Amino acid sequence: MDERFEPSGALAGTVIVPGDKSISHRAAIIGSLARGTTNIRGFSEAADCASTLEVLRALGVKIVASDGVLEVAGMGVGGFKAPAGPLHCGNSGTTMRLMAGALATSPIAAVLTGDESLNRRPMRRVIEPLVTMGAKCQASDEAGHPPLTVRGGSLQAVTYAPPVASAQVKSAVLLAGLGARGTTTVTESVPTRDHTERMLRLAGIEVAGEGSAVSVTPGVPEAFDLRVPGDFSSAAFFIAAALMVPGSALTVSGVGLNPTRTHFLGMLERMGARLKVTPGDGGSEPTGDVRVEHGPLTAIDVSPREVALSIDEITLLALVACAAEGRTTIKGAGELRYKESDRIRGTVQGLQAMGARVEEITGGMAIEGPVRLRGTRVGSRGDHRIAMMFAVAALAAEGVTVVQGWEWTQISYPGFAQALRRLKEENR
Ligand code: S3P
Repeated sequence: MDERFEPSGALAGTVIVPGDKSISHRAAIIGSLARGTTNIRGFSEAADCASTLEVLRALGVKIVASDGVLEVAGMGVGGFKAPAGPLHCGNSGTTMRLMAGALATSPIAAVLTGDESLNRRPMRRVIEPLVTMGAKCQASDEAGHPPLTVRGGSLQAVTYAPPVASAQVKSAVLLAGLGARGTTTVTESVPTRDHTERMLRLAGIEVAGEGSAVSVTPGVPEAFDLRVPGDFSSAAFFIAAALMVPGSALTVSGVGLNPTRTHFLGMLERMGARLKVTPGDGGSEPTGDVRVEHGPLTAIDVSPREVALSIDEITLLALVACAAEGRTTIKGAGELRYKESDRIRGTVQGLQAMGARVEEITGGMAIEGPVRLRGTRVGSRGDHRIAMMFAVAALAAEGVTVVQGWEWTQISYPGFAQALRRLKEENR
């Protein structure tokens, strides 16, 4: 499906973004492993999170939505029932990797499969630690691609250092650790998002350490009540839009501000962006408001560590760099090639088509700015974040932009086009 975008006048107003996708996945999964009924408010309506619910239901978990609350009846650690057929994770890497860890605690066999894109993504990174812990876990080929067969059961704790910075891998190992003998530890060279650790603590599980080494003591989580904050990665599109469109000033309200998610703001500040963060009431996850105003920006160098700290916002950073004075470099971003699409290629080729001076460099991108973008036809490449990044680019471009494959935005943000248009209309 094509979606057409026209250049925008200044953006203003307040945006409330939908519930965080990463936190929603975890709330449903940890709730399913708990004792009692977990109540989740603000659960994401993203297609990815619907995939997690579908997989859990196929494992016998009772999930009902009533009055804006999602109720998940926990089955305890090791309590999943054998599914009748393959578990469909759709486009969602988080569903597949976290569920591989959760499934490893149950003495059943299950097959995790996905759509064409997910079945091309690397799973060896979760297979390796789970096999070390004693699960039987196998990919469909030598290269480690799904479908993935997991046969769980008797697990032994490990100390594991993932070769790639990945919160999905860390989470899979920690979830498996709930059912293992002994204390499971994950050590990371760059601290990835820590939602799993925070939520396990909320559910009464002993989780020691933070940052470079986290350990989980086995046990059954207690059911919990959670309000899911707005998704920072969705908010990032509006923040970038305000920085791209002259005269803009907007606020994103009630958004998750977990420091392991917000490094995008740190990089923008270094570029000279005018940002104001106002912390709100913090529960287990910090939240607050982000105010952003358009203004002059300068190029920066982004290190591999910074890429790991803002992995889902790097394509947006490349876009914002088109409006910044000088040459921005992004290095150590090779992981972006293994997301829903090759995000380096998709970003570079699409932005080039829009007239940007951007090129691929080893493991990353270099962008020369400032450049006035031109509207044209650009492809989502079946990737929600690429589609939404081009919609933001379109607002600051000359002429009309058509984003092909817009339907992929359902994966993380159904209603994104409408939310963008509302901001424009409010300001008319
Ligand atoms: C996620 C972790 C990241 C991120 C993905 C969501 C999570 O993936 O790209 O969108 O919820 O844990 P990696 O852990 O593979 O980097």
